[in-house]
Amino acid sequence: MKYDTLVLETKGSQETGDSIAPRRDARETPSRTLTALSLFSGGGGLDLGFSAAGFRIGASSDIDAFSCHTLMLNSGRKRFYKHAHSFAADITKVRSTDLLSPANLVASNIDIVIGGPPCQAFSIFGQRKGLEDPRGNLVWEYLRIIREVEPKAFVFENVAGLLSIHGGKLYGQILEELSLGGRYTVSAHRYQVAEFGIPQFRDRVFFIGAKNGTSVPPMEPTHGKQSLFSCRPYRTAGEALRGLKEPGHAHSPPNHLGREHSQRIVDRYRDLAFGERDPKTRINKLDPKRPSFAIIVGSDKGGGKGHVHPHTAREVTPRESARMQTFPDWWEFHGTGRHVIRQVGNAVPPLFAAILAEHIKKHIFGAKSQKTYDELVNILELDFLRS
Ligand SMILES: C[S@@+](CC[C@H](N)C(=O)[O-])C[C@H]1O[C@@H](n2cnc3c(N)ncnc32)[C@H](O)[C@@H]1O
Repeated sequence: MKYDTLVLETKGSQETGDSIAPRRDARETPSRTLTALSLFSGGGGLDLGFSAAGFRIGASSDIDAFSCHTLMLNSGRKRFYKHAHSFAADITKVRSTDLLSPANLVASNIDIVIGGPPCQAFSIFGQRKGLEDPRGNLVWEYLRIIREVEPKAFVFENVAGLLSIHGGKLYGQILEELSLGGRYTVSAHRYQVAEFGIPQFRDRVFFIGAKNGTSVPPMEPTHGKQSLFSCRPYRTAGEALRGLKEPGHAHSPPNHLGREHSQRIVDRYRDLAFGERDPKTRINKLDPKRPSFAIIVGSDKGGGKGHVHPHTAREVTPRESARMQTFPDWWEFHGTGRHVIRQVGNAVPPLFAAILAEHIKKHIFGAKSQKTYDELVNILELDFLRS
């Protein structure tokens, strides 16, 4: 499966001569820690990744109190990850100052806003109502906060299905709106995260805005099929599950709890071939030699969906899904089954977020060096991906 990286851009004011933000010849060198405001933070995929790349998450927010609790629960567990404040609120009801002031921050402290409004309205699995869906309208809330804060940069993540809604019109509209009347140069990049060493196929689009006129170039894939000699081999579902004992084991990491299945389901799961879909539950058996299928949230009614474990006739646990998403075992999700599954399935894989954050640090903030894939694996303590 090959996905092209897509780079499209709208030029900021510097290119159009409509100068609102002064042009800086040299990109700023980050001599201090860069501070992020995280919106729609969920279970913390972006937040954790940006922290691993050296950003400080000044404040974050989500309507889901369980997600906010997860961020605070893990704060301080590792030196690189500290969360000052996580605000559980409906974004439509708050202003940026409500998010920033409890963390003793003001808008000018914020270097970057990161976040991905809910993708249900855009997802190719959804009804594709785009901005007519109230969840789609949360895009405008994101834009409002950007206007209020005017950060040096922003990242807006979403499902790749967004690109084709209304024949690409919605995408064009979002790109245009994100430029905020030319104040930001915005580039859009479509990435298949497996091509960056994530043990999962996950296709996402990232809009990156820069106030200093930088058009961020696309990242070059680093991983692929073994035959592609310029790449390292894909990381696989088998590697992601390395060293993890069966659920219920005394030394299990958090959130490693399985669901009970009837004998009929167990029999069906056992007989599936790698990669084959169960016709009733409509989930696939993982192939240990390939990246996982995309980790998704599933419906709350069904209690969320995992995939079928490659070697045991059962669905994977939230912890096993979190491994495919590159959450480290020390990262604990707060809540019961479906709350956890939602946080895991909605997340940007933290390792991918860290790789992207390094790229942004270099291209927008002028960082001289970039941490490598292996360094980020070490920082996050993703033991299962250590070479
Ligand atoms: C795609 S998830 C974000 C995942 C996150 N970026 C990560 O990497 O883990 C979208 C989040 O938006 C939140 N959300 C939905 N409606 C919201 C609203 N009205 N106000 C604030 N957050 C909302 C959801 O609870 C969900 O956690």
